[in-house]
Amino acid sequence: MLEAPLTPSPSLPLSGKHIVLGLSGGVACYKSAELARELVKAGATVQVVMTDAACRFITPATMQALTNRRVFTNQWDEREPNHMPHINLTREGAHAVVVAPASADFIAQVAQGRADELLALMCLARPLSGAAGGKPVPLLLAPAMNREMWAHPATQRNVAQVRADGATVLGPAAGDQACGEIGDGRMLEAAELRDELIAFFQPKLLAGRDVLVTAGPTFEAIDPVRGITNHSSGKMGFAIARAAAEAGARVTLVAGPVHLPTPRGAVRRIDVRSAEQMLAAVLPEAKRHEIFVATAAVADWRPANAAEQKLKKDGSGRVPALSFVENPDILATVAKLPPAERPFCVGFAAESHDIVRHAREKLARKGVPLIVANNGPATFGRDDNALVLVDAQGERELPPGDKLALARALVAEIAARVPPRRSGAKG
Ligand code: CTP
Repeated sequence: MLEAPLTPSPSLPLSGKHIVLGLSGGVACYKSAELARELVKAGATVQVVMTDAACRFITPATMQALTNRRVFTNQWDEREPNHMPHINLTREGAHAVVVAPASADFIAQVAQGRADELLALMCLARPLSGAAGGKPVPLLLAPAMNREMWAHPATQRNVAQVRADGATVLGPAAGDQACGEIGDGRMLEAAELRDELIAFFQPKLLAGRDVLVTAGPTFEAIDPVRGITNHSSGKMGFAIARAAAEAGARVTLVAGPVHLPTPRGAVRRIDVRSAEQMLAAVLPEAKRHEIFVATAAVADWRPANAAEQKLKKDGSGRVPALSFVENPDILATVAKLPPAERPFCVGFAAESHDIVRHAREKLARKGVPLIVANNGPATFGRDDNALVLVDAQGERELPPGDKLALARALVAEIAARVPPRRSGAKG
């Protein structure tokens, strides 16, 4: 049977979610096929609704094949026994309506409450409140249009209106356009839209709160071309920054030298190299953040005197006599700030053995309420991890998983422990 959902796996980020995916007319429809695939791969069931104009850019047959469901294109669809697809489509357990691409004309229709075609009619008829036991069905729009159309005051008015009416607008991005011009108006890529949707569904456990995260290794110079560092990839810290932003936080991410893209959403990134630079970036920020998660694998020592010029070998077999000094402990320094300035501090312990014992020592030595312990050598550079939470109450293992899933679980744990908002804190 066509309507049978592809069996979702409970561990996928959109498992159990039913998405109505609307396509209005635009060349970006070619990305919607990929988006449908991404949503299905992420565990969602996807019901496609297309306007006449969308059908000129991509066929319903393609969308049907990708979603395993018949596509709706017309409000007079005789397959619906009650002749009311505009009602039924959002009453069949839909968790969201996502219109991608949303053309300038489509946004204008939504802004004005017009209902000329099934897709706009369905958006107008979707439940807005939980009245009468129904569930509100949120509307997300991914605009796609020429840059002049996007910048036009009429479009901007319409976008402001749909936002004021409760819709979420995803993007658009800037860049090359199909018309040959360059500017704002490109639809976000399929993977970006999938991630926006996943983020949209995360519980807003840290709504409006400020979270500071350190991530990655530090690099301590020996001379202008050499230095010492470690195998930390930054993936865990970046996953925490992303999970905190998904949970509604404003995030500041202080990153050592890593090759990772900044997570989408409300994440401000400060790039540093050495431990001293990391401390200099963290200290002024710590005072205005309510939560500090120190994920960085900070180098414990740095060469005492980094050479200003490259050290040369002279062929005699002599090696440079390096001596080291200890780096500042960033987490311990923040944990010692006066109570009114001190964020809720979460440390990481990357250990190679006796993980819980070492973590408990660090809890006491650094004076922090929570240490997250993991096996450093086993996790550096990998996408998965296993974490043990160590605090005054005891130890608790988080189920092993990929770093993003663990980061989301950790954010929930932090949200449950962090004291209520400090008076005088930002926001
Ligand atoms: N940390 C820090 N500044 C340092 C060293 C560590 O902020 N100079 C933080 C890390 O970000 C982590 C926690 O302290 O949250 C523990 O880091 P780890 O490297 O596991 O421990 P160390 O304190 O360096 O102790 P050891 O090397 O003996 O394990």
